[in-house]
Amino acid sequence: YPKVKRNPDFKILDADDLKFFQTFLDNDELIHSSIAEETASFNQDWMKKYRGQSNLILLPKSTEKVSQILKYCNENKLAVVPQGGNTDLVGASVPVFDEIILSLRNMNKIRDFNHVSGTFKCDAGVVMRDAHKFLHDHDHIFPLDLPSRNNCQVGGVVSTNAGGLNLLRYGSLHGNVLGLEVVLPNGEVISNINALRKDNTGYDLKQLFIGAEGTIGVITGVSILAAAKPKALNAIFIGIDSFDTVQNLFLKAKNELSEILSAFEFMDRGSIECTIEYLKDMPFPLKNQHNFYVLIETSGSMKKHDDEKLEAFLSSALETKLISEGNLAKNEEEYNALWTWRKSVPPACNSYGGMYKYDMSLELKDLYSVSEAVTKRLNAAGLIGDAPKPVVKSVGYGHVGDGNIHLNIAVREFTKEIENLLEPFVYEYIASKRGSISAEHGVGFHKKGHLHYSRSDIEIRFMKDIRKHYDPNGILNPYKYV
Ligand code: MLT
Ligand code: ZN
Repeated sequence: YPKVKRNPDFKILDADDLKFFQTFLDNDELIHSSIAEETASFNQDWMKKYRGQSNLILLPKSTEKVSQILKYCNENKLAVVPQGGNTDLVGASVPVFDEIILSLRNMNKIRDFNHVSGTFKCDAGVVMRDAHKFLHDHDHIFPLDLPSRNNCQVGGVVSTNAGGLNLLRYGSLHGNVLGLEVVLPNGEVISNINALRKDNTGYDLKQLFIGAEGTIGVITGVSILAAAKPKALNAIFIGIDSFDTVQNLFLKAKNELSEILSAFEFMDRGSIECTIEYLKDMPFPLKNQHNFYVLIETSGSMKKHDDEKLEAFLSSALETKLISEGNLAKNEEEYNALWTWRKSVPPACNSYGGMYKYDMSLELKDLYSVSEAVTKRLNAAGLIGDAPKPVVKSVGYGHVGDGNIHLNIAVREFTKEIENLLEPFVYEYIASKRGSISAEHGVGFHKKGHLHYSRSDIEIRFMKDIRKHYDPNGILNPYKYV
């Protein structure tokens, strides 16, 4: 990273530091290696866009050990990167230089579940898939789902404030997280993990750690409100010819499906073309290709009621030509297959070599326009097409219900020419429409220095003040965020 210099105030790890960590960490809680391949899965991000050079990974099994580690690192000015499942999309969870990686992977216990209140408590390193499975077996669901559910961890998701596929129904983590256990850089532990549903005794401190990307403390435990498991689930995959129609269908779904609507996701033609190549032999659910595709999910407590509602909605949408073609899942297998088409868009785009990725909030009327503007720009520069052109495709998809578009530029290689065409163009475009340059993926290394496109100077000053207050030595996740 030619523009970023290692902060010389940070100590370089030495044999004494290592010896100290070995006094209280077991063999399976510490990896020390200068062989790049042995640490690659911790140093490199999922998109293969960012790579650090850390040779120490600590994987403590308890909050006390996290506290001991941070206290020592703070006193000795050793920089630290907290890491969950390392599925992050903005270079937030890998080191920039030689920061120690603090993996929460070994803190993976479910602590408690109260089936009456729905309060679920777990260690930060619990994989989201396991939280889903546990709650499913207890007639509940985790209030968030993501394509990376098999790898991402609950603490990482909270630290990112990820939104996921069902935010329109279950709301954001700022509402669902009831309490957190957090280790501060000086080793102190703040815990309100036993938090109640309502607690109005002063500042709601936990909110600061939700979406802080490990810059002011390391989340070690999470208490979250699980929702009751829906008894009836429906999914329909729809082909649509214009983004205006996508919006009209969304409005109709809100009005007519109302309380049973649990997802309204869109994908453009390019997203599905990449996914068809990626899923190879999996049969595509529609007969024809369309400009846009929508996946609508309903969930409720009475199948007959939901089916009737959905049927009435679909027949009038077909009659008024809002829908060109659709495929309604008839059973669980088909339901899962339809979701596979949506959840596979990110790995499909990443399968050509790498991708440039943007995640933006815009007013619905402008949501898709950023994708059109970027495609036009890349085409004009002659960068998109068959090899040896570097860009395979630029695609848009996302969460219509949340006004959130993901723009993936699938590439065969990363080049400065592509990057310079994309940035600052994308950010300026979003600022001109008064959108947000990060809807749910966060800031990380990628968007540090670009916050002013969405935040005022005074907001940025407050953020810097908060960071300094919690972490005066700046040891946590340096070179990132703000
Ligand atoms: C999604 O909506 O699929 C997630 O935000 C992940 C992604 O865009 O890669
Ligand atoms: Zn998303």
